[in-house]
Amino acid sequence: MAPPRILVTRPIVDDALARLRAECEVRVGPADRDASRQEVLEALRDCEGLLVVGHTKVDGELLDAAPQLRMIANFGVGVDHIDVPAATARKVWVSNTAGSLTETTAELGWALILSTVRRVAEGDRLVRAGQWKGFGAFFFLGAELPGKTLGIVGAGRIGQAVARKAPAFGMKAVYWSRTPKPEFGAQARELDALLRESDVVVVTVSLSAETRHLIGAREIGLMKKSAYLVNIARGPVVDEAALARALLDGGIAGAGLDVYEKEPEIHPDLLRCPNAVLAPHIGSATIETRRRMAHLAAENLLAGLQGRVPPLALNPGARVSGIPASLKWG
Ligand code: 8YV
Repeated sequence: MAPPRILVTRPIVDDALARLRAECEVRVGPADRDASRQEVLEALRDCEGLLVVGHTKVDGELLDAAPQLRMIANFGVGVDHIDVPAATARKVWVSNTAGSLTETTAELGWALILSTVRRVAEGDRLVRAGQWKGFGAFFFLGAELPGKTLGIVGAGRIGQAVARKAPAFGMKAVYWSRTPKPEFGAQARELDALLRESDVVVVTVSLSAETRHLIGAREIGLMKKSAYLVNIARGPVVDEAALARALLDGGIAGAGLDVYEKEPEIHPDLLRCPNAVLAPHIGSATIETRRRMAHLAAENLLAGLQGRVPPLALNPGARVSGIPASLKWG
């Protein structure tokens, strides 16, 4: 039997690609940019598997253009760029890499908290511009964390990992989630109450129709003027224009962002905010994590192509697994 054809939209670590090449005919998209819609449509036409690296949009039209597709493995956790119900309707499994980047992304959250409240990036710009004139008792003051409240918006794995590190900085964590999460180990709050109470708000909730602009002008208006907002989830969860206004008008003290509404574009007003630390979507960008993500995605892709339910399938019932009925429970 001919090996299954697969498309990997951007290169991943060599040994994960080698694992795929041992069992599949592999096409790999460009290294330096996302493949265009047309390139993906053409390359995917006769493929059985797709490994999405980055945020290539996978919708009904793309799925219809690839009638042999059985399996989509996402290199990452958030699947807001993949229409999972449309895949399920076409009997295509979709997997992600849940659990591969939890601590890594939580660490970036803390990097953004610390560099925002202590004005590290702003200080770096000042030093490089040759504008540092030496010590001053009131020079470049930031805020301190002990005794303050950390509000986590979204209580999934990453939100919990951010909260777990709060005691190390003397902070009390509270959280908001649509569904109660007793395992969170912190007190739950209504969203408005969390925004009023917190000194640092960290957004970790996944993007969906319900969470788009969850944090808008009204919500930012509830925050203390001395508070900071950090977003390590998805850009569209926060209304960027409203955030930039609040940063420029003193509505809040600062923001640390890793994600944006129209990546890689940044809202021009955000670029004018000295009190915003802007990271280029690097939440999972460590050598170790990207390796873990590549192997998990490859494993899930191969499982699906072999007719086994992918271990991290988001829609395990999309296909009947290839395991003989006699070996199944019930
Ligand atoms: C990835 C991410 O960089 O996993 C996620 O949801 O945002 C990032 O870790 C992204 O998925 C690109 O593949």
